[in-house]
Amino acid sequence: MIEPGARRDAGSSANFPKEDQMPKGLKLGSGFDPDRIPEALAAGCPLVWPNPGRRPATASWGDLSLGDGDIEGAALRWRRYAGLLAHAFPETRAASGKIDSPLASLPEPLRRSLAGDSGCRVLVKADHMLPVTGCIKARGGIYEVLLLAERLAAEAGLIAGDSDLMVLDGDAARSLFGRHTVIVGSTGNLGFSIGVIARTLGFRCEVHMSADAKEWKKTRLRALGARVVEHAADYSAAVAAARSIAAADRQAYFVDDEESVPLFLGYAVAARDLAAQLAAAGIAVDADHPLFVHLPCGVGGAPGGITFGLKHIYGDDAVCILVEPVESPCMTLQLAAGLDRSVSVYDIGLGNRTEADGLAVARASMFVARMVAGLVDACVTVDDASLFEWTYRTWGQGGFRLEPSAAAGFPSVSALIAYSADPTAAGTALARAGEDSATHVVWTTGGQLLPDDEFEKALSRGKEALA
Ligand SMILES: Cc1ncc(COP(=O)(O)O)c(C=O)c1O
Repeated sequence: MIEPGARRDAGSSANFPKEDQMPKGLKLGSGFDPDRIPEALAAGCPLVWPNPGRRPATASWGDLSLGDGDIEGAALRWRRYAGLLAHAFPETRAASGKIDSPLASLPEPLRRSLAGDSGCRVLVKADHMLPVTGCIKARGGIYEVLLLAERLAAEAGLIAGDSDLMVLDGDAARSLFGRHTVIVGSTGNLGFSIGVIARTLGFRCEVHMSADAKEWKKTRLRALGARVVEHAADYSAAVAAARSIAAADRQAYFVDDEESVPLFLGYAVAARDLAAQLAAAGIAVDADHPLFVHLPCGVGGAPGGITFGLKHIYGDDAVCILVEPVESPCMTLQLAAGLDRSVSVYDIGLGNRTEADGLAVARASMFVARMVAGLVDACVTVDDASLFEWTYRTWGQGGFRLEPSAAAGFPSVSALIAYSADPTAAGTALARAGEDSATHVVWTTGGQLLPDDEFEKALSRGKEALA
């Protein structure tokens, strides 16, 4: 195991920076213990960081405020909402209103370039194709707005008990919801997911967008009738502004990307969807067949919720890897620094500058960090060039239409397999990443709805990165 902050032997693994790439000195803000922060993290270099706080899953459960019963409750509610979703969104009808994505295999040349000589399996959980929004944030966002709609309708006497939820898509509900505003802060994809479902049901919707948010995501939201408030500052500032505006408005409901339990549970249910697909495909996950899941991480809700769900299903046979841009490794930093207080990537001299807009987050969710501190097996950081490269390669050879954030899991597979041979990995679950019996799942988190010109730009950046 590499201890955080330990100076690494340059060249001991392809994932570690060379000595001359190391920073002259960590620019740590006050209150940090520099020994806890990996130097490569502050240097903005790609790294594999095994989480020293990871414990056997069963040791975590007693300490956490949520459990399997909460995931079960969310899964049941998703099922109850399916009829309504099928009615409101025709593209979900083929799957009877279930919002899920395919589990795809990776063409052999791509698998080989990630896994080398290893015979491990590499699959793609294709949330970039998720119906309705084409991104993972729908799993939490649609779920939370439906919960809100159900509660408001019940309070207004429009539904009672298990009555037909189709009422939520009717005129009476629409006029009720029109008196309420759903407010959210977002780098783009959560805002879009909230905007789609909120506007479909007739809510007013206000989305506070960070400076990183792409123009096309704002345009798309406005077309839905959502109000877009642009902030010159980063994601955390946009969320803070949204939170305080919502607090001052009694008719407003704030979807809190940093602290929301419903979002977290909405995402957690996705682990069950994956497990059902693996079982249907006859792919074993057990002590002899570890499952490595590579999850792009922004503020942490989506990957944290899925990690929480996977560990409840598979325990330690699921190895959960959070993947972040080198300039925005907020969850890696938070877990490395410890959980007594929130820290930001600016505090260690990083700029939070990345083209991966969905992952451009300087400060992780403390709620999620606390939930997953003992569950995450490792964090991996990747540079923007590799995101563009894999956007390009997976399109050319696999037909996956990804936005750069969504490609983060691919370079994570090869980084982890390279790391698995490192002596510091010996004895940990990470050492098994290159075994033939391992299955890697790359969670591709968005991109299907990318406009053509944006996608073309990403492809040409990828081609350049490869040249
Ligand atoms: C495409 C994409 N992938 C991954 C994420 C990460 O999700 P979270 O911010 O919940 O960690 C986001 C967040 O917006 C995203 O847009």
